[in-house]
Amino acid sequence: MTSSTHTNYGFVTLVSIVAAVGGLLFGYDTSVISGAIGFMQTKFHLNSAMQGWVVSCLLIGAIIGAALAGFLSDRFGRKKMLIISGLLFTIGSIISALSPTINLFVIARIIGGIGIGISSTLVPLYIAEIAPSKNRGRLVSLNQLAVVIGISAIYFVNKAIVNAGDQSWDVNYSWRWMLGCGLIPGLLFVFLLLLVPESPRWLEKQGFDEKAFKLLEKINGTDQAKKELADIKNSIQKEASGSIRLLFKPGFRIALIIGVVLAILQQVTGINAIMYYAPEIFKKVGAGTNASLTETIIVGLVNFLFTLVSLWLIDKVGRKTLLIIGSAVMTISLAVVGFEFSSAHPNGTLVLFFILLFVAAFAVSFGPIVWLVIAEIFPTNIRGRATAIASVALWLADFVVSQFFPILLGKTGPATTFFIFAILSLFAFIFSATVVRETKGKSLEEIETEWSTH
Ligand code: BGC
Repeated sequence: MTSSTHTNYGFVTLVSIVAAVGGLLFGYDTSVISGAIGFMQTKFHLNSAMQGWVVSCLLIGAIIGAALAGFLSDRFGRKKMLIISGLLFTIGSIISALSPTINLFVIARIIGGIGIGISSTLVPLYIAEIAPSKNRGRLVSLNQLAVVIGISAIYFVNKAIVNAGDQSWDVNYSWRWMLGCGLIPGLLFVFLLLLVPESPRWLEKQGFDEKAFKLLEKINGTDQAKKELADIKNSIQKEASGSIRLLFKPGFRIALIIGVVLAILQQVTGINAIMYYAPEIFKKVGAGTNASLTETIIVGLVNFLFTLVSLWLIDKVGRKTLLIIGSAVMTISLAVVGFEFSSAHPNGTLVLFFILLFVAAFAVSFGPIVWLVIAEIFPTNIRGRATAIASVALWLADFVVSQFFPILLGKTGPATTFFIFAILSLFAFIFSATVVRETKGKSLEEIETEWSTH
């Protein structure tokens, strides 16, 4: 059964889907607060600074989690750390739901955030280390699909909870249920992880030859497994030091630059300004509360559909091409939105259309591909730590954007804000076209060899 070179797609897809449930937690946790914050403000009498802190403290946790994920996963393994991330998420959900005080709530959100920081870094990395090269892009991007599903699903969860009681129940309890329901996907994630194997590349790095071979054989058949194991061994031995200093050698330095710059660009081009503040933006062009919420649902739907398009294209067209096309469309869309806002009577339909076009372009390119690229471009010996550096940069950039977007919007208005995002997208376009390298179809070892020989 496993003696040919036949790839066991059923097995790797299943393992990838299990890991991708981590993405669901990511999506859930980043957007659950949007439905809860209004009621919490009334309940705890939060001023606007405190409100901002309650929303963004999760990102501080995520930065810490991403930083820890690298070192700990290189040392203790991907699977163990993923299980811990699921547990942290679950504990964070329970404590935040039961918190009698706002300070305890913030601590709980930071704990959950640490879980998200770990899983956001390790889910793509784990899938990349287990997937056959041919469809690694698609399998890793299942993670992004789960993130997007999580973001949209929470909207409906929140709505159902709010409809379950009256105003005073909402203020006292609805937000507790919104956060507490995170327990379900959290525990599901932990349980499912118990059923999947450790990453074959990590096993080999730790010297578990036999186990690594068995797993590779199960994935690709005996012949291919022998070849892959030899390649993995070779690349581990070549970079024997396993020190993070490896990243500052000329060849790998460029990999580090690509990883970190792409991670920052994913955030500073403005996706989360739209994800977190869409209803507010739509209200500015005259949509009522209901219409702006409907439009927010449409944003979620477009995000989902175009992530599917990306999954379909990513291993065919390649990462670099999609990043170039995506950032070009993002730049144009943001510039048009900026121009509309700078006119005396912005056209609401046009703004909606170009915001949707921006989201679609992001979903095809920078959304899934950045997470994929940072999981696949670094050498096996230090992959955990190197990916984590890029992931920390991403979460930091997310924090900065979510802190400063409302301030920028208030001080300079939407036109300037969108022009700034457009300029940063233009930079993303130039960077993708000139610096990013194509990794489609290559094994992780081939990618590693290419860096070290450049
Ligand atoms: C980003 C998130 C963003 C999401 C939107 C992810 O790739 O990392 O910050 O909210 O995409 O779909």
